[in-house]
Amino acid sequence: MAQKPDGFAEAIKRLRAAKRLVVFTGAGISAESGIPTFRDNGGLWQTFPPEKFASWKGLLRIAALNPRQLAEFLIAVLEPVAIARPNAAHQAIAQLEKYVSTTVITQNVDGLHQEAGSIRVREVHGSFFKIVTLRGRFLHRLVRDDLRRIVERLQRTRSGLFKLPRLGLALRPMIGLSFAAIKRPKIVLFGDALAEPDWTHSQTDMDSCDVVLVVGTSGLIYPAAWLPQRARQRGATVITIDPSEPGDSDIWLRGQAGELVPPLVRGAFECSGEG
Ligand code: OAD
Repeated sequence: MAQKPDGFAEAIKRLRAAKRLVVFTGAGISAESGIPTFRDNGGLWQTFPPEKFASWKGLLRIAALNPRQLAEFLIAVLEPVAIARPNAAHQAIAQLEKYVSTTVITQNVDGLHQEAGSIRVREVHGSFFKIVTLRGRFLHRLVRDDLRRIVERLQRTRSGLFKLPRLGLALRPMIGLSFAAIKRPKIVLFGDALAEPDWTHSQTDMDSCDVVLVVGTSGLIYPAAWLPQRARQRGATVITIDPSEPGDSDIWLRGQAGELVPPLVRGAFECSGEG
């Protein structure tokens, strides 16, 4: 990137001085991996309004009234995740652990931070890849290929006469009966408590870090959105990378994650000339 945004050199300085770093991410970090965000133009909630689609109750209602629409929603959600690869921003964040004590706290359920190599990742809104019982007891993990197969089967439900049992069969690796329990992905929808133990650990992380790098979140969904402010109130520096202006931040680097995160990491830790 030729032209660096205002604040870039200062962000490098603060990052280089960090003793404990938290990277807090939202849907924007995965946008360049092809996963649409929720609230931008073309975002998921524009086609599928959250009042109808963002709660278990809403989804059950749609399953009963309009199962074909539920299949369309599931394809829209799962297909981009099933074929996504980590982008340059995920990869640069994974490099940070080599230089400074780093925890990634993400609101995303796409598993891309782990796939890029980040070790300490808190998934406060859960994950498509963790399958749990209705009460949240861990059962097993899926891999990205499982999601691909689910999407292929969901797509086949579109052809011919739509039948609800075919939808159930398509989703079987993720949702349905498993031995004596009903299984589901460990994802947090509206009205749910945040995913534990990640949520509790995230609050502790915010109480002991000195820099928070926020990437690609509108900061509109609470309680996760409180996390950076919790650290800032104690004196931690909050650096935000986002094309849109954030609410509270010490340094705002305006732009895309894939363009700004890699040179920021390089500048802070890999070559002192950047910035
Ligand atoms: P949003 O869709 O609310 O916000 C996406 C943010 O990413 C915006 O601030 C964009 O400006 C920014 N953005 C877009 N492209 C970007 C890029 N290439 N690089 C960097 N930033 C970019 O998504 P979240 O803030 O993640 O929760 O949404 C928070 C929660 O709301 C989600 O976890 C989900 C949703 O409802 C639940 O469903 C519980």
